[in-house]
Amino acid sequence: MTLTASAPAPLWNPDEDETLVCCAVRVETHDVKTFIFQATEPRRFAYQPGQFMTFSLTIGGEEIHRCYTLSSSPTRPDRVSITVKRIGAGPVSSWLHANLTPGVSIRALGPMGDFFCSPQPGSKYLFLSAGSGITPLMSMTRSHHDLGSCADIAFVHSARSPADLIFRDELNLMAKTAPGLTVTAICEADSDAEIWAGLRGRIDLTKLETIVPDFREREVYICGPAPYMAAVKTMLEASGYDMARYHSESFDFAELSADQPQPEAASSSDQGFKVEFKLSRRTIDVAPDRFILAAAKAEGMRLPSSCTKGICGTCKCKLVSGTVDMTPAGGIRQREIDQGMILICCSKPTSDLVLER
Ligand SMILES: Cc1cc2nc3c(=O)[nH]c(=O)nc-3n(C[C@H](O)[C@H](O)[C@H](O)COP(=O)(O)OP(=O)(O)OC[C@H]3O[C@@H](n4cnc5c(N)ncnc54)[C@H](O)[C@@H]3O)c2cc1C
Ligand code: FES
Repeated sequence: MTLTASAPAPLWNPDEDETLVCCAVRVETHDVKTFIFQATEPRRFAYQPGQFMTFSLTIGGEEIHRCYTLSSSPTRPDRVSITVKRIGAGPVSSWLHANLTPGVSIRALGPMGDFFCSPQPGSKYLFLSAGSGITPLMSMTRSHHDLGSCADIAFVHSARSPADLIFRDELNLMAKTAPGLTVTAICEADSDAEIWAGLRGRIDLTKLETIVPDFREREVYICGPAPYMAAVKTMLEASGYDMARYHSESFDFAELSADQPQPEAASSSDQGFKVEFKLSRRTIDVAPDRFILAAAKAEGMRLPSSCTKGICGTCKCKLVSGTVDMTPAGGIRQREIDQGMILICCSKPTSDLVLER
């Protein structure tokens, strides 16, 4: 028998490719599902474990954008997956859970993001996650496992109850077969079907020192809800941990942008440009050193935005006339720029502008 190797599929190109087709859905827990995607034409996805994609949906006639970390590993490049927790009244997570079935297409931008880690042999890591914040750490762990890496990873995941433990079986299986990987779950309470026999409560220094006595020697990667992240950060700081080795991802861009120093409003003596928002029928003055989105928000305008850092693509809009100085960070494709689109969160006017917004 002769085996012939077929040519590998071309790489997914975020500048040209944008449609993902759902090919499978997995139920992970009572409120978490994994959606597996392939491209419309054969494509391989190249990304770093921990990166995310921005998904665009039209719900109720409105275009909405949300970011989801790829829970899949780049070591299996033909497919990507996201793992989504359904948030009660959340429009996008609810829509995905109810409507995204095999065969359904969705538009996506990326992968992108600077929270990633390819575990290196001889290095020691502490992965900390809670709830759906497990996804980037899962991608890193899957990648580590697939590559047979000899890195030393202690993975400590917190959940409300055993019924909320995402990827429980797969993580335990990987820990059995990968030397160097240990997995510990901490639950706050029992679930209806299971009395939790493991560590109980919330993560604290006593628990961490018991599970991972050498945690101060490890590079920390953490993702989870804001209160969890804040509590763990305070705990690590108080423990004498070297915070230069602390890497975190928040799923809440609003919170991140709230931490950013907001640019000062321009003084009346500053030379401003007129920026007209056609659909909103508003014209505002924007100083040349000011981002358009920040200036519009200061004027009380409500415009779609999320990261405010040129990453997610939420604030994209058409520049009808004028010129800007734009510093995007992955949230817009070159061909969109060529078509006159801009991200107003990271664009400063260099002339009077008309925007189709
Ligand atoms: C970089 C990045 C990566 C992300 N990766 C994932 C992922 O892998 N899996 C995932 O499920 N979500 C992820 N998210 C969150 C996701 O983008 C959406 O915010 C989430 O699905 C809720 O969207 P929604 O439209 O249903 O509700 P929204 O209207 O966006 O949110 C409703 C409310 O729920 C809060 N909320 C949002 N996400 C969560 C959460 N995970 N847990 C508890 N409360 C929350 C919001 O702050 C808001 O108050 C990520 C976000 C970012 C910025
Ligand atoms: S708000 Fe995210 S790119 Fe502008």
